[in-house]
Amino acid sequence: MDKFLIEGGKCLSGEVRVSGAKNAALPIIAAALLVRGPLEISNMPALHDVNTMLKLIACMGVDVKETGDMQVTIDSSAINSYKAPYELVKTMRASILVLGPLLAHFGEAEVSLPGGCAIGSRPVDLHIRGLEAMGATIVVEEGYIRAKIDGRLKGAKIFFDTVTVTGTENILMAATLAEGQTIIENAAKEPEVTDLAECLIAMGADIQGAGTDTITINGVSELQAASHSVIPDRIETGTFLVAAAMSGGCVTTRATRPDIQEAVLQKLIEAGAEIETGDDWIKLDMKGKQPKAVNITTAPYPAFPTDMQAQFAAMNCVAQGVSHIKETIFENRFMHMQEMIRMGGKILIDGNTATIEGSTELKGAPVMATDLRASASLVMLALVVTGETLIDRIYHIDRGYENIEEKFQQIGGKITRISATN
Ligand code: EPZ
Repeated sequence: MDKFLIEGGKCLSGEVRVSGAKNAALPIIAAALLVRGPLEISNMPALHDVNTMLKLIACMGVDVKETGDMQVTIDSSAINSYKAPYELVKTMRASILVLGPLLAHFGEAEVSLPGGCAIGSRPVDLHIRGLEAMGATIVVEEGYIRAKIDGRLKGAKIFFDTVTVTGTENILMAATLAEGQTIIENAAKEPEVTDLAECLIAMGADIQGAGTDTITINGVSELQAASHSVIPDRIETGTFLVAAAMSGGCVTTRATRPDIQEAVLQKLIEAGAEIETGDDWIKLDMKGKQPKAVNITTAPYPAFPTDMQAQFAAMNCVAQGVSHIKETIFENRFMHMQEMIRMGGKILIDGNTATIEGSTELKGAPVMATDLRASASLVMLALVVTGETLIDRIYHIDRGYENIEEKFQQIGGKITRISATN
């Protein structure tokens, strides 16, 4: 397994280009299953999870072509299977996103039940209940979700008692081809849901209210070929800005959007950073100062994103003062804290709340990545504290960050990938 060798004590400065959002690209790839004809997707990030999703639909007979830099064209006309096999689904839970489109367009789907993952049990009951409300017959057996509908799905009023991002996206996609009107109440408002909706509207879908907690979809008989550019990744953006803040440096993130990450930018200002923004860039200048510790409570968008919790935990470990981090979305998303304690982090965990006392005494140490965002937080901490750090199991990070070591090297980070073969 590849490792990262990192030399700490660096002040990060310079510019870095943000890639397209992983969590927008994944549902948009699934949306290609709704239409017979090419869906042209640009600003596609080069990520392991994106490759897995493209492999998943390709194994169904869907035509997938790299048609340029960060551009993919997908055509489902020749699809010959409606099965998402365990071998692929077990490596990426977001594979569940093919369930709604397959059912809506082809009347059947067989998708392996995604297991849990490091951060939680990750049930998909709300996806299943929503599709059943639209008339699907769904049986869960032998580790598979087997779904069928004779004719078209029927529009329905669906209330999510928990805000679910991919649950909202699955029902949104299924509803575009359903007969009649679907109303999704307590819908997820994440920008990635809105980006998916904009792609579906470009394909001819009739959708109102994306980005609010009530989305109304009037089903149409078919969708058309279209092209769409994936929004920038707000979590990758936040990762580089927090890394800059921890190092006392000055970093500009390019090809991003300040309007979809207010909560994170507010927390960085509270930590003492100077933030300047333009249409597609964000500049953070810490002017050599140590950040102030900030309290965090994660919640659905537009509140503070759970995917940025680990990164702020890293910052709080080296900040001035004591802070509290409360994780309200997932039941086990503090594993990075144990590794930070190995580096000298002063952290007390009590259930879903962690208390962190900032310190300048942290040192590099051998640590292990456990999930995507936890891995990023360990890289950030290792770049800043004194000494050398070796991070194991960095395949987690490759799932959601494009060329992270090159991007950190561009802004002064001393990080090298040690491949298992050498
Ligand atoms: C999406 O996961 C993201 N993944 C996650 O990003 C992100 O952390 C999460 O939303 C929350 O923002 C993608 O978009 C591919 P949820 P998702 O359904 O949709 C419960 C990353 O790092 N729930 O919004 O799987 C669930 O247990 C990843 O990029 C049910 O109970 O998350 C959780 O407590 C990690 N039943 C809460 O809802 C369901 O049927 C929110 O989960 C579905 C969810």
